[in-house]
Amino acid sequence: MTIAIGSDHGGIVLKEAVIRAIESLGMKYVDYGTFGTESVDYPDYAEKVASAVARGEQDKGVLLCGTGIGISIAANKINGIRCAHVTDAFSAKMAAEHNDANILAMGGRITSPADAYEFTRIFLTTPFAGGRHATRVDKIMRLEKLNG
Ligand code: RB5
Repeated sequence: MTIAIGSDHGGIVLKEAVIRAIESLGMKYVDYGTFGTESVDYPDYAEKVASAVARGEQDKGVLLCGTGIGISIAANKINGIRCAHVTDAFSAKMAAEHNDANILAMGGRITSPADAYEFTRIFLTTPFAGGRHATRVDKIMRLEKLNG
């Protein structure tokens, strides 16, 4: 399992914790930046990570910005992406179990590194439940056909 990571300057405070969580599970990661605290535009990093996941180049993704909101909105514009903005452990579990989310988004200005570590581990280890949830996820993905 390889995880794509992307962050703007507002989320970078969580990156180390996310990497530790991924490595603690024996998974690999590819870091799509940013690599410093200089101000950057979060849609650029959402695009890099979401495109890599949508193309199947990486299995799942973790995106970070100040709140997790902007970068999740941007990622969800890419066909095939279900990016869940998560601020608690239960939502991290449900994002995987019920929504089959393929990207986790968190905010460096609202979530602590310790919580980001926990949420990342939960998200990456919780299996999709399938069944009635698969029917609902299929309905979500059919909404992409309404684009354009
Ligand atoms: C950047 O200042 C900030 O707007 C960004 O990190 C994020 O919080 C947007 O949703």
